[in-house]
Parts: sequence; structure tokens; C-alpha cells
Amino acid sequence: MPKHIAIIPDGNGRWAKLQKQDRTFGHMKGTANVKDIVMFAKELKIPVLTIYAFSDENWERPSQEVTILMELLETYLLQERQNLIQNKIQLRAMGDIGRLPKSVREELIQTMEMTAHLDEMILNFAISYGGRSEILSAIQKISKGIQKGDFRDEDITEALFSKFLYTHDLPDPDLLIRTSGELRISNFMLWQMAYTEIYVTDVLWPDFNREEFMKALHVFENRKRRFGKTQEQMDGS
Ligand code: IPE
Ligand code: IPE
Ligand code: MG
Repeated sequence: MPKHIAIIPDGNGRWAKLQKQDRTFGHMKGTANVKDIVMFAKELKIPVLTIYAFSDENWERPSQEVTILMELLETYLLQERQNLIQNKIQLRAMGDIGRLPKSVREELIQTMEMTAHLDEMILNFAISYGGRSEILSAIQKISKGIQKGDFRDEDITEALFSKFLYTHDLPDPDLLIRTSGELRISNFMLWQMAYTEIYVTDVLWPDFNREEFMKALHVFENRKRRFGKTQEQMDGS
């Protein structure tokens, strides 16, 4: 079983178009599906689930769509908070949450505070997130640390660098699931995905149900991860 699953829940817009509905309808269905997949991951005892909810680049969508996505996020937090607590799920957010509308940010911070002590699963929402900006901000912090004399050039190792990322205390994702068929990572967890297994399905996010999730896990189970070594080395270890 993967210890950390990351999901790019793509295809809400295309799903809505197929139903001859507007994009908002797709985002509503997509949000409802996030609720169910989170609960399923909890039932399966997945320790960490990261969901890409909103990218740095998504800010450039039409402002009405951005507003709808922000409202859906706020509603999700208000509706799911008790459920997260009951299920002992700790909510985290990674990204530039300072850019979020005040009410969304406040609900987010409150939900994080209310669930900070819970330890049966970590639900990590990437919101206003970009892999490049995460890496840049790590570099800025490290540069300040050097100026202050906290560490020297030669102390900058992969381990130290990882400490300055949002995921500083989380394992790297074992499995990335992307729905709706796009073969790209769209600025998601660029550092952390060095050895992540990638599973892409044509199924659109609102249709990605528990059965589809199990299919992804089954494919993962049959992958041979080598981390640069030979299969013989892996078999021997
Ligand atoms: C994913 O669905 C949701 C977010 C990016 C927030 P899209 O809105 O990207 O759906 P498509 O890609 O247009 O179908
Ligand atoms: C990736 O989906 C981001 C989220 C799911 C939040 P996009 O729909 O924004 O990705 P691109 O634009 O197709 O790469
Ligand atoms: Mg998309």
C-alpha cells in the first residue's frame, strides 16, 4: 500500500460539457467526489493523501470561475469539518494561502487548527500551489539562513533542502493519480515526485469513484520500483 498518494483531480469542465452543463456544475460534482475519495482513502488506511485543489496558474482562469472554486472550497471546509474530526483526519494546506479571499483563508486556518492534533490520516490540500514557487521559496529561505550564519554552503544537501518545502515532515508521494488523461504534471510537487509512480486514467474526475481508485492501487501494486538500481539488486534486498 502506498504511504502517500497525490491526486490531480482533473476534468471537471469536460465532464460538465458532456452533460451539457456549465463548468460550475462540474466543479460541484468534483467537490462532492473529493469528499467521497477522502473517506475511502481513510477506510483504506492511506496515511497521507494530497489533493491538488487549485494551482498557481488557476488564478488566471476567468474571475467568475475562480470565485466559484473559492466558494466551493469554503463550503467544503464548513460542511466537512465535523466529518474530518470524527474520522480523526488532520487537514493541512500547502501553497500561498495569503492569496485566498479572507473568508476562505479563515475557514481554512480554523479547520487546520481544529484538526491539528488528529493523526489517523493527513489530508493535504494543495491550494494556490505551484511546485516552482515552492522550490523558489525554499531557496530564498536557505539564502537568508546562510546570510544569518545558520548554515554554510556545504550544508545544503537534499535532506536540508527538503526541510524547507511544505512537505518537510511528509514522505514523498509513492503514487500520483491524474484523471482525465492529460500526460503532464502541471507544476505539481516537482521536487517530491522524483520517484513517484504515475497513474493516468481517461476517467474524468467526477466519475473517478471507489472502483477506479482500487484500479489505480492495483496497478501500483504491480509496478516494479527500482529507484535507479537493477531489478537483481531490488530482488536481493
Ligand atoms: C479540475 O478540473 C479542477 C481544477 C483545476 C480546479 P478542470 O476545471 O481543469 O476541468 P477541465 O480540465 O477543464 O476539464
Ligand atoms: C491541474 O489541472 C490543477 C488542478 C487540478 C488543481 P489544470 O486543469 O489546471 O491543468 P492543465 O492546465 O491542464 O495543465
Ligand atoms: Mg483541467
